[in-house]
Amino acid sequence: MTRASRRSKKRRKIIKRKVNIRGKWKASKESQAIISPKVVKYWRQRYSLFSRYDEGIKMDEEGWFSVTPEEIAVRHAQRCVAGGVVVDCFAGMGGNSIQFAALGYHVVAIDIDPQKVEMASNNAKIYGVDNYIDFIVADFLQVAPSLKGNVAFLSPPWGGPSYKMADNFTLDLLKPVDGYTLFQVAQTITPNIIMFLPRNVDVCQVEELSWLSSPPLNVEIEENYVQGYLKGMTAYFGNTAYWGVTEETTSHNIHEV
Ligand SMILES: C[S@@+](CC[C@H](N)C(=O)[O-])C[C@H]1O[C@@H](n2cnc3c(N)ncnc32)[C@H](O)[C@@H]1O
Repeated sequence: MTRASRRSKKRRKIIKRKVNIRGKWKASKESQAIISPKVVKYWRQRYSLFSRYDEGIKMDEEGWFSVTPEEIAVRHAQRCVAGGVVVDCFAGMGGNSIQFAALGYHVVAIDIDPQKVEMASNNAKIYGVDNYIDFIVADFLQVAPSLKGNVAFLSPPWGGPSYKMADNFTLDLLKPVDGYTLFQVAQTITPNIIMFLPRNVDVCQVEELSWLSSPPLNVEIEENYVQGYLKGMTAYFGNTAYWGVTEETTSHNIHEV
């Protein structure tokens, strides 16, 4: 091989390497354009939020850090033994509504933000369960007294990612109103209430909620882990607490998804 041909081969290699690097750079720039830096951390966990993420799931910024991880939403639906109609009072991206519908419940999904309702409806279509969900754009606090349902599911805003800073997350930190008021409003629908709360929630306060009812409601609190990380706590009240389970309340249809 002559010196000239050796030099030209080396040059070809260098050019090839440059092209590859440019290709990688382009890909990462593209994802940055769609995903804002604030949500990159959550985007990396996208398949644990929605396993069908790649099929066209839509999310906004608040949705990224507030959607219930799919594994936990499935768990909530499996524990929802009290029956036919579930009112998802803060539906967000539809993470929970989809799993309730997939297990055979009829869902009334409420959110105050019309764009979130549009996204949740799109996401429910991807999971093939949109026919089992009535989406309503409304302020839950306003419409609750006119709603009927067997279970009320509460996944209220925790005040953004800064909830983690509190040593003890007290119920007054929940939005749009404190946890006591929220629980009382939900009781106008049904005493069977499931509440998804931060992992650092004040468990004594959660237990106290059961005393707001007369006679006091059964209550059970469970920790929810995803891949070994504690992601939240769920409180089950009334017939959704384990010791309230009866045989006739556990039968329901399974929707194929
Ligand atoms: C924590 S996110 C719910 C996430 C949902 N579980 C999911 O998996 O997608 C809370 C939602 O409550 C909604 N929200 C806040 N105030 C509300 C109100 N007064 N009535 C109804 N929805 C409200 C927000 O728009 C937000 O989408």
